[in-house]
This record gives sequence, structure tokens and C-alpha cells, in this order.
Amino acid sequence: MSAGGPSLRWPARVNEIPKEVFLRPDIFEAELQRIFYGGQWHALAHLGELPEPGDFKTMVLGRMPVIVAHGDDGTVRVFVNSCTHRGNQLETASCGRRTEFECPYHRWAFANDGRLIGCPGAREFAPDFDKADHGLRQLRVAQFFGLIFATADRDTPPLEAWLGATVSALQDILGGDGRLRLLGYQKVRYASNWKAYADNDGYHAPLLHTGFRLLQWQGGQGSQTVTDNGHLAFKVQLKPVQNAGFLRDPSLVAFKGVDPQNGSRVVQLFPATVLTKHLDVINLRFAIPTSVDETEVHYAYFAHQDDDAELLRHRIRQSSNLLGPCGVISMEDAAIFQRIHVGSRSPGNAAFQKGVKRLDTLWHDFGQNDEAGNLPKWDYYRRVMGFARAGEGGDGHA
Ligand code: FES
Ligand SMILES: [Fe+2]
Repeated sequence: MSAGGPSLRWPARVNEIPKEVFLRPDIFEAELQRIFYGGQWHALAHLGELPEPGDFKTMVLGRMPVIVAHGDDGTVRVFVNSCTHRGNQLETASCGRRTEFECPYHRWAFANDGRLIGCPGAREFAPDFDKADHGLRQLRVAQFFGLIFATADRDTPPLEAWLGATVSALQDILGGDGRLRLLGYQKVRYASNWKAYADNDGYHAPLLHTGFRLLQWQGGQGSQTVTDNGHLAFKVQLKPVQNAGFLRDPSLVAFKGVDPQNGSRVVQLFPATVLTKHLDVINLRFAIPTSVDETEVHYAYFAHQDDDAELLRHRIRQSSNLLGPCGVISMEDAAIFQRIHVGSRSPGNAAFQKGVKRLDTLWHDFGQNDEAGNLPKWDYYRRVMGFARAGEGGDGHA
């Protein structure tokens, strides 16, 4: 990291993570600059959340408020949610429909394509004032099957190159063609650092989550693909248990999709977006690192636009019962995220074990249930943050 950035000595063993990365406010501030405002794409919405011209959604990128706006011209843009006059937060609704955004402070008005179209008293403004120079600030935007990404860095690689080997699993999650329809949200704040939330692994799934055994996540065929820039993609066949006495009505875990081989897909995109399809649940999770100690996650649930009434009903029922903060197969997550955070207030390193093949250098093949698939992500994080490994020389700054 450039001079002045946080200093941290990273362990030499590739399976170890210093626990202090979950706790240090100076590291959190550097992450905002290096990761959230740096050379990554961040999934902020799916087109299914703002399908019509005029629709918008507000979000937060890192700590920066943004508006994802579907313009009257059909283009989706991401604006910084800050008036270009004195910086007032422009929009406070979580979503809605507007042809223009009006700032209440001095009534400047912006079209939903970002142009400044009204500013009372402009004749007495500074002599060089020109409305054309004061449109809303825009971020770079790219879409993948309707999934809307933004980046604050002009040097971030093109989106598909950045997504790399996750694209096929991601396309499956997005219904094959991206024509999704929003069902609703669950929004939750986890008492955990965003990186603990983002450490997804197949190892814990059936061990922590009693309900996950309903799906026999480890009972079928599966694969885990890991990219050098910190993404993970799981393709897993499910074998739902129909009559093991867990459920009075096993239709909750029925799979009505077209291909039983496509039972489960999980894509974890660096830094903190998780996208899943379990059975017929299509779930996109948008994470906001609200502080070093807290992560807000918006679970957005979708159907496909071509679903008939029966499949739609099934998806709503399955979504609201299986996933999210109180879902049958994931309700234990919130407690574990908090307990990792509390337990990390102790010296030393956290160590990954399941699937670790070497200690001196990373490798590229990972099994479905290896927790070690997170290690390339951690190494990428370490490099982006500029933390040198012990034995690499330097003082912890790159
Ligand atoms: S700050 Fe928005 S109009 Fe003045
Ligand atoms: Fe979990």
C-alpha cells in the first residue's frame, strides 16, 4: 500500500488469516478506498427491480450513497446520490418512480438521465456557472443478464473479463436469460465484518445448517470454480429429502425447475456479493459494509418472467421459507457471523483446513466442499490491500 496506508504482516502459511483484519478501523477505511472505490465491479441491482423507465432504487457503494436509475430514454445509470450544488443527499426513498429528482434544500432539479434541468436564482450564480457542468456525477455501469454493476474506477477491467469463470453459474442463477421479476426483499444487519460474511464455504453448509441436510448438498455431484481475483462459483446437484420426517409437507423442498442437475448454484463475487439458486429460489444478496463491525445485507428474491401462476406461488413460498435471516436452511448464519466477530477479538490467525493441499503457495483445483476455495480470495484481498506476506520482505506495506 502507498505510504500512510495501514501496516500489517500477513502470515507466511497460505491457509492463515490474521484475525485483526476483521477488527481494525484503519484497515476498514483503507478497504473503502482500495476495494469499494477501487478497481472492482459491484452488483447494485437487477433490472427486475427497476423494470420500467422512471424506476429507481437507492443503494450504498462502500459508504457512498448512489441512485440506480432507469432513465426515460431506457438507459440504466448509477448516480452519486449527492446534489451537485452543496452535496445534499438527493433521494431518500429506497425505491420508486420519478421523471426527475428534486433536491429539497434549494430546489435544484435533475432529470432521470442526470441532467440539471432547474436551479432557482441562476442569474445571480458565479459568473462561470453553466448548467451543463452540474449534472449528477455518474459511475461506470455494465450489465450481465440484467444484473447491474457499477465501479468508481475508470481502470476496472471490462465486466465479463472481471467475472471470468463465474459466468456460466451466474447465467444459470439469472434464469438463463436474465428476464427476472422481483418478488420482494429481506433486509438484515449482521453484527460482523463484511469479510467474515463473505467467507462462504461448502464445508459448513450441512454441518452448521440442520435444514440444509434437507437438500443433501453433499449427496450429489458438484464442483467449485475459483478465480484469481477472488470469485467463487459452485455448481451442485441437490437430492432433496422427501420423507425423512423433517417436514410435515415436503413440497416445500420440491424442485420444479427444468433440469434436476441444476439444483444449486452459488456465486460469490469479490468483494461481498452473493448470488444463489437453491431449488427454485433465485436470490441475489447485495451487501453494504456499514462499519468495521456491521454488514447490511439486502436479500432480493426473484421469479422468472415466464413463470405460470403455480410456479410463481411455489417460488414465493420456497423463497420466504428456505433462505434469508430466518430461512430453514440458513437461519444459523447470523449467529455464526456475530460469533466470528466476537471470537476474532483475540490474538493470532484464523486457519482454513478443509481442502488445504499446500502451505507455501496457492493451487487451483478445489472440491465442492472445500473451505480452501476462499484462500485465493484472501490472497487477492491481501495483494489489493498491499499487505506483504511474512518472509517476502518489506515492512508490511507493498
Ligand atoms: S444542496 Fe441541493 S439544491 Fe442546494
Ligand atoms: Fe451458511
